[in-house]
Amino acid sequence: KRNVIIDTDPGIDDAVAIAIALYSDQLDVKLITTVAGNVSSEKVTLNAKKLITFFGKDTPIAKGATRPLLKDAVDASDIHGATGMEGFDFPQPNNELLLKEHAVNAIANTIRASEEKTTIVAIGPLTNIAMFIRMYPELLDKVEEIVMMGGALGRGNKGVLSEFNIAVDPEAAQIVFTSGLPLALAPLDVAWKSLVVPEDSEKIRDMNNVGNMMYLLFKKYRGGSFQTGLKMYDSFAVAYLLKPEMFTIEETFVGIEVNGVYTAGATSIDLKGYLGRESNCRVCVDVDPDQFKNWFLESIEKCV
Ligand code: BDR
Ligand code: CA
Repeated sequence: KRNVIIDTDPGIDDAVAIAIALYSDQLDVKLITTVAGNVSSEKVTLNAKKLITFFGKDTPIAKGATRPLLKDAVDASDIHGATGMEGFDFPQPNNELLLKEHAVNAIANTIRASEEKTTIVAIGPLTNIAMFIRMYPELLDKVEEIVMMGGALGRGNKGVLSEFNIAVDPEAAQIVFTSGLPLALAPLDVAWKSLVVPEDSEKIRDMNNVGNMMYLLFKKYRGGSFQTGLKMYDSFAVAYLLKPEMFTIEETFVGIEVNGVYTAGATSIDLKGYLGRESNCRVCVDVDPDQFKNWFLESIEKCV
């Protein structure tokens, strides 16, 4: 089993990715850390507690950054609803899941405590991960890989060319992408290749309790784009981890546009090598949509 820490801002698509990871028999999720993103840090932490309690798991949770390193906080409550996980009435969360230490220290302690290397799955803004890199350089050789959902090969979803997780905290992303650590990225473009249509959602609803919960969240996701197809962004990072052969992967240089005039927060994914820089990331540039859909549905079926 692969040791994993998930850094997240749940978030409807985060909730799905977390479920798939927690129920996977290939992963040992040691810790969940939260970061302000889709909604505030208080809300995403509460959502993480609700999810883990609902799944009946005992994965520890640590609350992390309450805002980006330099930029002002922004959220995506227009997409995920005011609570960040609108649509399902979760049972009373177990507060004992929450560790006392800050997420950055919890990441360090978890990595230090395990003999094997740890993979970090980052599916929110990269604030905690950047802080960890700066605060604990002595632990970096125990990081197997940082697998992220973020960035875009083409158009953005937060700005013309910028994706939410990177655009919210580009300085943090800059620290991560210049860290020299093994990085992997599932950008927006692959997530747009395989949408969850109503027929899929109905299958998911009928699979099990977890699927039923997801269905009710899906009904509220993006204020009702249920009919046209839902984007399961964060599940693509977990998909890369569990089944990379579904993807076309390019080793390439990814630069972060921290100060662009029109493009701040964009990822400059240099597939053609214009910049002549050494590659720093494995980027998922394409995915087989049918394989992904099958994997996605099978993974949720296993959430029991
Ligand atoms: C990313 O932004 C968030 O709203 C989603 O949870 C995902 O991590 C997609 O751009
Ligand atoms: Ca997310």
